[in-house]
Amino acid sequence: MNKEKDIIILGIESSCDDTSASVIKNGFLLSNIIAGQKVHELYGGVVPELASRAHQQNIIPVVDQAIKQAGVTNEEITAIAFTRGPGLLGSLLVGTSFAKGFSLATSIPMIEINHLQAHVLAHFIQEYNEPYDPPKFPFLCLLVSGGNSQIILVKDYLDMEVIGQTIDDAAGEAFDKCAKVMGLPYPGGPFVDKLAKEGNPDAFQFSKPRIANFDYSFSGLKTSFLYSLRDHLKENENFIEERKADLCASLQKTIIDILLDKLIKAAKETGIKEITVAGGVSANSGLRQALVETAVKHRWKMHIPKFAFTTDNAAMIAMTGHYKYLKGEFIGMDAVPFARMDIRV
Ligand code: KG4
Repeated sequence: MNKEKDIIILGIESSCDDTSASVIKNGFLLSNIIAGQKVHELYGGVVPELASRAHQQNIIPVVDQAIKQAGVTNEEITAIAFTRGPGLLGSLLVGTSFAKGFSLATSIPMIEINHLQAHVLAHFIQEYNEPYDPPKFPFLCLLVSGGNSQIILVKDYLDMEVIGQTIDDAAGEAFDKCAKVMGLPYPGGPFVDKLAKEGNPDAFQFSKPRIANFDYSFSGLKTSFLYSLRDHLKENENFIEERKADLCASLQKTIIDILLDKLIKAAKETGIKEITVAGGVSANSGLRQALVETAVKHRWKMHIPKFAFTTDNAAMIAMTGHYKYLKGEFIGMDAVPFARMDIRV
Protein backbone atom coordinates (compact mmCIF):
# COMPACT_ATOMS: atom_id res chain seq x y z
CA MET A 1 0.00 0.00 0.00
CA ASN A 2 1.26 3.50 -0.88
CA LYS A 3 1.87 5.59 2.23
CA GLU A 4 0.94 9.28 1.72
CA LYS A 5 3.91 11.58 2.20
CA ASP A 6 3.75 13.60 5.43
CA ILE A 7 3.34 17.35 4.99
CA ILE A 8 5.64 19.02 7.52
CA ILE A 9 5.59 22.82 7.49
CA LEU A 10 8.03 25.05 9.36
CA GLY A 11 6.32 28.40 10.07
CA ILE A 12 8.23 31.61 10.76
CA GLU A 13 6.61 34.79 12.11
CA SER A 14 8.39 38.12 12.63
CA SER A 15 5.90 40.79 11.57
CA CYS A 16 5.91 42.91 14.73
CA ASP A 17 7.53 42.30 18.13
CA ASP A 18 7.20 38.52 18.55
CA THR A 19 9.71 36.12 17.02
CA SER A 20 8.02 32.78 16.55
CA ALA A 21 8.63 29.43 14.85
CA SER A 22 6.35 26.42 14.66
CA VAL A 23 6.20 22.99 13.10
CA ILE A 24 2.90 21.53 11.87
CA LYS A 25 2.67 17.97 10.56
CA ASN A 26 -0.35 17.08 8.44
CA GLY A 27 -2.28 19.93 10.12
CA PHE A 28 -1.32 18.85 13.67
CA LEU A 29 0.71 21.15 15.88
CA LEU A 30 4.09 19.77 16.97
CA SER A 31 5.67 22.96 18.33
CA ASN A 32 5.01 26.69 18.65
CA ILE A 33 7.85 28.72 20.18
CA ILE A 34 7.35 32.44 20.80
CA ALA A 35 9.98 34.93 22.02
CA GLY A 36 8.48 38.28 23.03
CA GLN A 37 10.47 41.52 23.24
CA LYS A 38 10.46 43.26 26.60
CA VAL A 39 12.65 46.11 25.33
CA HIS A 40 9.61 48.06 24.03
CA GLU A 41 7.98 48.37 27.47
CA LEU A 42 10.40 51.19 28.25
CA TYR A 43 9.08 53.25 25.34
CA GLY A 44 5.32 52.71 25.60
CA GLY A 45 5.10 51.19 22.11
CA VAL A 46 6.98 49.04 19.62
CA VAL A 47 10.18 50.71 18.38
CA PRO A 48 10.71 49.29 14.85
CA GLU A 49 14.51 49.50 14.89
CA LEU A 50 14.76 47.69 18.23
CA ALA A 51 12.21 45.10 17.07
CA SER A 52 14.26 44.08 14.05
CA ARG A 53 17.43 43.87 16.13
CA ALA A 54 15.71 41.63 18.68
CA HIS A 55 14.36 39.42 15.85
CA GLN A 56 17.96 39.02 14.63
CA GLN A 57 19.00 37.80 18.06
CA ASN A 58 15.99 35.53 18.56
CA ILE A 59 15.37 33.92 15.21
CA ILE A 60 18.01 31.17 15.22
CA PRO A 61 17.41 29.90 18.77
CA VAL A 62 13.62 30.09 18.28
CA VAL A 63 13.66 28.07 15.02
CA ASP A 64 16.16 25.62 16.49
CA GLN A 65 13.94 25.03 19.53
CA ALA A 66 10.79 24.65 17.38
CA ILE A 67 12.42 21.99 15.19
CA LYS A 68 13.91 20.14 18.18
CA GLN A 69 10.66 20.20 20.14
CA ALA A 70 8.80 18.89 17.09
CA GLY A 71 11.20 15.95 16.91
CA VAL A 72 11.76 16.31 13.16
CA THR A 73 14.98 16.69 11.18
CA ASN A 74 15.64 19.55 8.74
CA GLU A 75 15.50 17.05 5.85
CA GLU A 76 11.98 15.98 6.80
CA ILE A 77 10.56 19.51 6.45
CA THR A 78 8.36 19.80 3.35
CA ALA A 79 8.18 23.60 3.08
CA ILE A 80 9.13 26.80 4.93
CA ALA A 81 6.24 29.21 5.41
CA PHE A 82 7.17 32.76 6.42
CA THR A 83 5.20 35.96 7.04
CA ARG A 84 5.70 38.27 4.07
CA GLY A 85 3.41 41.02 5.39
CA PRO A 86 1.70 43.14 6.50
CA GLY A 87 3.87 44.36 9.35
CA LEU A 88 6.99 46.34 10.21
CA LEU A 89 9.36 46.16 7.28
CA GLY A 90 12.55 45.78 9.34
CA SER A 91 10.96 42.97 11.34
CA LEU A 92 9.57 41.19 8.28
CA LEU A 93 12.99 41.37 6.61
CA VAL A 94 14.51 39.22 9.36
CA GLY A 95 12.00 36.38 8.94
CA THR A 96 12.07 36.61 5.14
CA SER A 97 15.88 36.60 4.99
CA PHE A 98 16.08 33.72 7.43
CA ALA A 99 13.60 31.70 5.35
CA LYS A 100 15.66 32.36 2.22
CA GLY A 101 18.90 31.32 3.91
CA PHE A 102 17.33 28.15 5.28
CA SER A 103 15.80 27.36 1.91
CA LEU A 104 19.09 27.92 0.06
CA ALA A 105 20.99 25.70 2.48
CA THR A 106 18.46 22.86 2.45
CA SER A 107 16.70 23.16 -0.95
CA ILE A 108 13.35 23.17 0.90
CA PRO A 109 10.78 25.30 -0.98
CA MET A 110 9.34 28.52 0.49
CA ILE A 111 5.75 29.67 0.85
CA GLU A 112 4.86 33.33 1.53
CA ILE A 113 2.13 34.00 4.07
CA ASN A 114 -0.23 36.90 4.55
CA HIS A 115 -0.30 37.54 8.31
CA LEU A 116 -4.00 38.49 8.29
CA GLN A 117 -5.06 35.32 6.46
CA ALA A 118 -3.04 33.39 9.02
CA HIS A 119 -4.91 34.97 11.96
CA VAL A 120 -8.15 33.72 10.39
CA LEU A 121 -6.79 30.23 9.68
CA ALA A 122 -5.57 29.87 13.29
CA HIS A 123 -9.00 28.28 13.82
CA PHE A 124 -7.88 25.23 11.82
CA ILE A 125 -4.82 24.35 13.93
CA GLN A 126 -5.28 20.83 15.27
CA GLU A 127 -3.69 19.63 18.52
CA TYR A 128 -3.26 16.04 19.63
CA ASN A 129 -5.74 15.04 22.36
CA GLU A 130 -7.71 18.28 22.00
CA PRO A 131 -11.25 18.65 20.62
CA TYR A 132 -11.37 19.93 17.03
CA ASP A 133 -14.41 21.83 15.80
CA PRO A 134 -13.30 24.28 13.09
CA PRO A 135 -15.67 26.82 11.49
CA LYS A 136 -17.55 25.85 8.35
CA PHE A 137 -17.42 27.97 5.18
CA PRO A 138 -18.65 30.58 4.62
CA PHE A 139 -18.00 32.25 7.96
CA LEU A 140 -17.37 35.75 9.29
CA CYS A 141 -14.21 36.59 11.21
CA LEU A 142 -13.88 39.59 13.50
CA LEU A 143 -10.14 40.26 13.29
CA VAL A 144 -9.11 42.62 16.08
CA SER A 145 -5.49 43.34 16.88
CA GLY A 146 -3.06 46.17 17.55
CA GLY A 147 -2.95 47.05 13.86
CA ASN A 148 -6.28 45.84 12.45
CA SER A 149 -10.01 45.87 13.09
CA GLN A 150 -11.76 44.08 10.27
CA ILE A 151 -14.78 41.97 9.49
CA ILE A 152 -13.74 39.32 6.99
CA LEU A 153 -16.01 37.15 4.90
CA VAL A 154 -14.18 33.81 4.63
CA LYS A 155 -15.40 31.77 1.66
CA ASP A 156 -12.64 29.16 1.68
CA TYR A 157 -9.21 28.58 3.25
CA LEU A 158 -7.53 31.04 0.91
CA ASP A 159 -10.53 32.98 -0.37
CA MET A 160 -11.29 35.90 1.93
CA GLU A 161 -12.84 39.33 1.50
CA VAL A 162 -12.65 42.26 3.92
CA ILE A 163 -16.20 43.60 4.17
CA GLY A 164 -15.56 46.13 6.93
CA GLN A 165 -12.50 47.76 8.45
CA THR A 166 -11.33 50.62 10.60
CA ILE A 167 -10.95 53.96 8.87
CA ASP A 168 -8.47 55.17 11.51
CA ASP A 169 -7.23 53.44 14.70
CA ALA A 170 -7.51 49.71 15.40
CA ALA A 171 -9.35 48.39 18.48
CA GLY A 172 -6.04 47.36 20.08
CA GLU A 173 -4.68 50.87 19.56
CA ALA A 174 -7.75 52.30 21.30
CA PHE A 175 -7.06 50.03 24.29
CA ASP A 176 -3.35 50.83 24.30
CA LYS A 177 -3.56 54.61 23.76
CA CYS A 178 -6.27 55.11 26.40
CA ALA A 179 -4.31 52.86 28.78
CA LYS A 180 -1.24 55.00 28.21
CA VAL A 181 -3.01 58.22 29.26
CA MET A 182 -4.06 56.44 32.46
CA GLY A 183 -0.38 55.64 33.09
CA LEU A 184 -0.71 51.89 32.47
CA PRO A 185 2.24 49.93 30.99
CA TYR A 186 2.46 48.98 27.29
CA PRO A 187 0.64 47.17 25.78
CA GLY A 188 -2.25 48.42 27.86
CA GLY A 189 -5.02 46.11 26.57
CA PRO A 190 -4.42 43.27 29.06
CA PHE A 191 -4.18 45.78 31.98
CA VAL A 192 -7.47 47.43 31.02
CA ASP A 193 -9.02 43.95 30.82
CA LYS A 194 -7.81 43.08 34.33
CA LEU A 195 -8.86 46.37 35.95
CA ALA A 196 -12.21 46.38 34.14
CA LYS A 197 -13.23 43.29 36.13
CA GLU A 198 -13.46 45.44 39.29
CA GLY A 199 -15.11 48.46 37.70
CA ASN A 200 -18.57 49.64 36.70
CA PRO A 201 -18.99 49.52 32.89
CA ASP A 202 -21.78 52.11 33.04
CA ALA A 203 -19.87 54.64 35.16
CA PHE A 204 -18.83 56.78 32.18
CA GLN A 205 -20.16 57.34 28.68
CA PHE A 206 -17.74 57.81 25.81
CA SER A 207 -18.61 58.71 22.24
CA LYS A 208 -19.41 55.99 19.71
CA PRO A 209 -18.83 56.46 15.98
CA ARG A 210 -21.56 56.76 13.41
CA ILE A 211 -20.10 55.23 10.30
CA ALA A 212 -21.70 53.65 7.26
CA ASN A 213 -21.49 50.00 6.22
CA PHE A 214 -19.50 47.54 8.34
CA ASP A 215 -16.58 49.93 8.92
CA TYR A 216 -15.11 50.92 12.27
CA SER A 217 -13.59 54.07 13.74
CA PHE A 218 -11.90 54.39 17.13
CA SER A 219 -10.21 57.81 16.96
CA GLY A 220 -13.33 59.63 18.22
CA LEU A 221 -13.54 57.36 21.26
CA LYS A 222 -9.89 58.03 22.03
CA THR A 223 -10.44 61.81 21.88
CA SER A 224 -13.62 61.58 23.96
CA PHE A 225 -11.76 59.51 26.57
CA LEU A 226 -8.91 62.03 26.66
CA TYR A 227 -11.25 65.07 27.03
CA SER A 228 -13.24 63.34 29.74
CA LEU A 229 -10.05 62.68 31.74
CA ARG A 230 -8.86 66.26 31.20
CA ASP A 231 -12.17 67.72 32.48
CA HIS A 232 -12.31 65.49 35.54
CA LEU A 233 -8.65 66.10 36.36
CA LYS A 234 -9.34 69.85 36.55
CA GLU A 235 -11.67 69.18 39.47
CA ASN A 236 -9.78 66.33 41.09
CA GLU A 237 -6.11 65.66 40.44
CA ASN A 238 -6.43 62.11 41.82
CA PHE A 239 -9.32 61.30 39.48
CA ILE A 240 -7.51 58.66 37.43
CA GLU A 241 -6.17 56.81 40.46
CA GLU A 242 -9.51 56.92 42.27
CA ARG A 243 -11.64 55.84 39.30
CA LYS A 244 -9.22 53.68 37.27
CA ALA A 245 -11.30 50.50 37.45
CA ASP A 246 -14.50 52.32 36.42
CA LEU A 247 -12.65 54.07 33.58
CA CYS A 248 -11.28 50.75 32.31
CA ALA A 249 -14.65 49.00 32.57
CA SER A 250 -16.45 51.83 30.74
CA LEU A 251 -13.77 52.06 28.05
CA GLN A 252 -13.81 48.30 27.50
CA LYS A 253 -17.60 48.22 27.31
CA THR A 254 -17.60 51.01 24.70
CA ILE A 255 -15.02 49.22 22.53
CA ILE A 256 -16.94 45.93 22.78
CA ASP A 257 -20.25 47.66 21.91
CA ILE A 258 -18.66 49.25 18.83
CA LEU A 259 -17.16 45.93 17.69
CA LEU A 260 -20.34 43.91 18.23
CA ASP A 261 -22.67 46.45 16.69
CA LYS A 262 -21.07 46.04 13.23
CA LEU A 263 -20.53 42.31 13.62
CA ILE A 264 -24.25 41.79 14.33
CA LYS A 265 -25.10 43.99 11.34
CA ALA A 266 -22.75 42.00 9.08
CA ALA A 267 -24.16 38.67 10.28
CA LYS A 268 -27.71 39.88 9.65
CA GLU A 269 -27.02 41.26 6.20
CA THR A 270 -24.98 38.29 4.96
CA GLY A 271 -27.22 35.74 6.68
CA ILE A 272 -24.12 34.00 8.05
CA LYS A 273 -24.34 32.51 11.54
CA GLU A 274 -20.94 30.84 11.68
CA ILE A 275 -18.84 33.50 13.47
CA THR A 276 -15.19 33.55 14.54
CA VAL A 277 -12.85 35.99 16.25
CA ALA A 278 -9.09 36.38 15.85
CA GLY A 279 -6.19 38.69 16.73
CA GLY A 280 -4.66 39.93 19.99
CA VAL A 281 -7.75 41.80 21.23
CA SER A 282 -9.76 38.56 21.08
CA ALA A 283 -7.87 37.64 24.28
CA ASN A 284 -10.05 40.25 26.03
CA SER A 285 -12.25 38.51 28.60
CA GLY A 286 -15.09 41.03 28.27
CA LEU A 287 -15.16 40.64 24.49
CA ARG A 288 -15.14 36.84 24.79
CA GLN A 289 -18.04 36.90 27.22
CA ALA A 290 -20.00 39.38 25.10
CA LEU A 291 -19.45 37.24 22.00
CA VAL A 292 -20.72 34.13 23.75
CA GLU A 293 -23.83 35.99 24.97
CA THR A 294 -24.47 37.54 21.55
CA ALA A 295 -24.07 34.13 19.92
CA VAL A 296 -26.78 32.66 22.15
CA LYS A 297 -29.09 35.60 21.44
CA HIS A 298 -28.61 35.54 17.66
CA ARG A 299 -28.22 31.74 17.34
CA TRP A 300 -24.67 31.98 16.03
CA LYS A 301 -22.17 29.14 16.11
CA MET A 302 -19.31 30.98 17.79
CA HIS A 303 -15.65 29.92 17.47
CA ILE A 304 -13.21 31.48 19.93
CA PRO A 305 -9.56 30.42 19.59
CA LYS A 306 -7.24 29.44 22.42
CA PHE A 307 -5.31 32.37 23.92
CA ALA A 308 -2.03 31.04 22.47
CA PHE A 309 -3.41 31.35 18.93
CA THR A 310 -4.94 34.83 19.26
CA THR A 311 -1.75 36.90 19.51
CA ASP A 312 1.05 36.68 16.94
CA ASN A 313 2.35 33.11 16.59
CA ALA A 314 4.00 30.96 13.95
CA ALA A 315 1.54 28.06 14.33
CA MET A 316 -1.01 30.05 12.32
CA ILE A 317 1.69 30.80 9.72
CA ALA A 318 2.54 27.10 9.40
CA MET A 319 -1.17 26.19 9.23
CA THR A 320 -1.71 28.64 6.36
CA GLY A 321 1.46 27.23 4.78
CA HIS A 322 -0.16 23.79 4.88
CA TYR A 323 -3.14 24.97 2.80
CA LYS A 324 -0.93 26.90 0.38
CA TYR A 325 1.26 23.82 -0.01
CA LEU A 326 -1.81 21.77 -0.96
CA LYS A 327 -2.48 24.34 -3.71
CA GLY A 328 1.17 24.31 -4.82
CA GLU A 329 1.67 28.02 -4.05
CA PHE A 330 5.42 28.45 -3.64
CA ILE A 331 7.62 31.52 -3.94
CA GLY A 332 11.18 32.01 -5.16
CA MET A 333 14.30 33.78 -3.92
CA ASP A 334 13.05 37.11 -5.27
CA ALA A 335 10.46 37.29 -2.44
CA VAL A 336 10.51 40.61 -0.60
CA PRO A 337 8.39 41.59 2.40
CA PHE A 338 5.55 44.10 2.19
CA ALA A 339 4.58 46.46 5.02
CA ARG A 340 1.05 46.61 3.59
CA MET A 341 -0.76 43.68 2.05
CA ASP A 342 -4.36 43.05 1.06
CA ILE A 343 -5.95 39.96 2.60
CA ARG A 344 -6.54 38.48 -0.87
CA VAL A 345 -2.83 38.44 -1.76
O1 KG4 B 1 -2.50 40.44 17.30
P1 KG4 B 1 -1.55 41.13 18.20
O2 KG4 B 1 -0.78 40.26 19.15
O3 KG4 B 1 -0.48 41.90 17.38
C1 KG4 B 1 -0.51 43.14 16.81
O4 KG4 B 1 -1.46 43.53 16.12
O5 KG4 B 1 0.52 43.83 17.03
O6 KG4 B 1 -2.39 42.21 19.03
C2 KG4 B 1 -1.82 43.02 20.03
C3 KG4 B 1 -2.93 43.88 20.61
C4 KG4 B 1 -2.43 44.99 21.54
O7 KG4 B 1 -3.07 46.19 21.18
C5 KG4 B 1 -2.88 44.52 22.92
O8 KG4 B 1 -3.13 45.56 23.83
C6 KG4 B 1 -4.14 43.77 22.57
O9 KG4 B 1 -3.83 43.07 21.39
N1 KG4 B 1 -4.54 42.83 23.63
C7 KG4 B 1 -5.62 43.02 24.41
C8 KG4 B 1 -5.65 41.94 25.33
N2 KG4 B 1 -4.56 41.14 25.09
C9 KG4 B 1 -3.89 41.71 24.04
N3 KG4 B 1 -6.56 43.96 24.38
C10 KG4 B 1 -7.54 43.89 25.29
N4 KG4 B 1 -7.62 42.91 26.22
C11 KG4 B 1 -6.70 41.92 26.27
N5 KG4 B 1 -6.80 40.94 27.18
